[in-house]
Amino acid sequence: MPKLNPSALYYGGDYNPEQWSRHVWQEDIRLMKQAKVNLVSLGIFSWTNIEVAEGVYQFDWLDDIINLLHENDIKVDLATATASPPAWLTKAHPEMLPIDANGVVRSHGGRQNYCTSSPIYRERAAALVAKLAERYGNHPAVEMWHVNNEFGCHNPLCFCDTTAAAWQGWLQNKYGNLEALNEAWATNFWSQRYHNWNEIIPPRRTPDGTFPNPSMVLDFHRFSSDELLDIYKLERDTIRKYDSVHPITTNFMSMRGSIFVDYWKWAKEVDFVSTDIYLIAADPNRDIEFAYACDLTRGFADGQPWLLMEHSTSAVNWQEHNLPKEQGEMLANSIGSVARGSEGAMYFQWRQSKGGSEKFHSAMVPHAGENTRVYRQVTELGDQLDQLRDLVSTSTEQAKIAIIHDYESLWAMRQYNVPTTQLDYTEISQDWYRALYNMGVRVDFVSAKADRATFKKYDLVLAPTQYLMTDELEANLIDYVKNGGSLVASYFTGISNETDLIRLGGYGGKLVKDFIGVRVEEFAPLPKGSVTTLSNGYQAKLWAEISQANGAEVLATFGEGVAAGSVAIARRNYEKPVWYVASQLTDESLKEFFGSVTKELGIEAEGGNGIEVLRRGKFRFEIGHKPGSHSHQVSIG
Ligand code: GLA
Repeated sequence: MPKLNPSALYYGGDYNPEQWSRHVWQEDIRLMKQAKVNLVSLGIFSWTNIEVAEGVYQFDWLDDIINLLHENDIKVDLATATASPPAWLTKAHPEMLPIDANGVVRSHGGRQNYCTSSPIYRERAAALVAKLAERYGNHPAVEMWHVNNEFGCHNPLCFCDTTAAAWQGWLQNKYGNLEALNEAWATNFWSQRYHNWNEIIPPRRTPDGTFPNPSMVLDFHRFSSDELLDIYKLERDTIRKYDSVHPITTNFMSMRGSIFVDYWKWAKEVDFVSTDIYLIAADPNRDIEFAYACDLTRGFADGQPWLLMEHSTSAVNWQEHNLPKEQGEMLANSIGSVARGSEGAMYFQWRQSKGGSEKFHSAMVPHAGENTRVYRQVTELGDQLDQLRDLVSTSTEQAKIAIIHDYESLWAMRQYNVPTTQLDYTEISQDWYRALYNMGVRVDFVSAKADRATFKKYDLVLAPTQYLMTDELEANLIDYVKNGGSLVASYFTGISNETDLIRLGGYGGKLVKDFIGVRVEEFAPLPKGSVTTLSNGYQAKLWAEISQANGAEVLATFGEGVAAGSVAIARRNYEKPVWYVASQLTDESLKEFFGSVTKELGIEAEGGNGIEVLRRGKFRFEIGHKPGSHSHQVSIG
């Protein structure tokens, strides 16, 4: 498998020369060189400029710009241009447009306007990719391939009849026979038993007050992620027929809002992991969100270097209130990503568009030109990344703590028919991460499907709301603790099996009920916005439950309401201790709790309270965040 092999940290951004005259191209080259840009992502949305009618390709402009970049030592991350099908294609084949759960066709006019199961989309995309790979696979400017763009950003789920047929095929493949599916989905409920595969439709909108079968919804998420992955594989394998040398990637979205693609599974299919990271400008904790996304991406990459394929130099254009980045923030983000394992810092986009939906999105060259705050920072960053070139291909230090991250639990929990719709898997995981970040404790992320050897690398594993518990994960976690590991599991862990059927006999399954020793009988979620005080003085929100100790030592109980007296925090000592936390502790209490846990386990902290201290290769990074200003320092040692 070809690997990323940079000679310096990558620096650049999405480049859309088709939006500009050739005179501007010359200016672009001058400014790129001035800023030490060494890589651009080319052609991401260029389908209509390359294939002007079915089978009629126009490569002259692309040849010219690739050659111009090459003459100036700027490498190309060549896109497959499949992210935005042209109007001639959707006009000829309106059946390829996606249809939402309400049966509404999502029209041409934005981007990603295709049903992910559409045979015509796949056929035309593969034909385009073949042409590109055949023509440019051996071009010396090409450094890597950029398949499609942010798969599933706008069209993650489609509910049309074409999708229904693909869905039925996926289910047949998974379950083999209908009896197995009926059993796995508990279809004797509400007369949902299926007698023929073709009766199973996607989880379209149902009568008000009723919701589709949750096991079906969970499988539909798995299926939809796989459908997108099939497109990725189709494009990748098409490139490989012509080019066996250059690494192939697609830009993930490791951010909070992106929840439709199982990147743990996808990461196995890319030659290297790359991601985009955009922040919510109004979020005062966005530095933590950024660090979380970097660390999660490093997890997808199995600890190996990865690439920040896009972030923004300043404001975006898709939030309600699009604030510019604060003083020093852009550099702190970019350098921070490198410290957390990125092989460079890339942006959307090189030159700010003068028209189109993203004309108010920041870029490396703003509307106001080179004499600007942003472009000055861009050149400053180019110099700094150049000085860090020795970092290339080095790994970051492994953390002592691993947080389990699991899209399947996220999908299973994010439904209507749950004890409270206030539970947000990502938010809970980010709460825990934030407490550790503020303490200056680094963490890695691992998949719920990680093997025993992976868990064993860590002193402490955290399982925040691991709702969906496979027998394999349960056995792996118990084995990990029996072999000297330490674990913190939260409420709503071990509740259902792989197809979202409840594990009976007391919630929490073997892990919580028997191994940690807390037997949960009923859930008692707390009203929105309320905070409850536990018997040890900690404060908690969102969740309470009615339970008894079943072998665990009780450290705190709930103090009020129907759960008063039930277990709020418990521990059990094996070679090392394990803890169970039955509510969502507030930020302060989480810090106290994790403070005592890390102290007991001897896990050290460095920095914290707005200072990130990170090490990679021979460099030490100190990145600071205060309201209104951000700073960074890099030193040796
Ligand atoms: C995503 C896309 C880019 C652009 C940016 C805007 O990352 O990949 O094409 O739309 O969002 O923030």
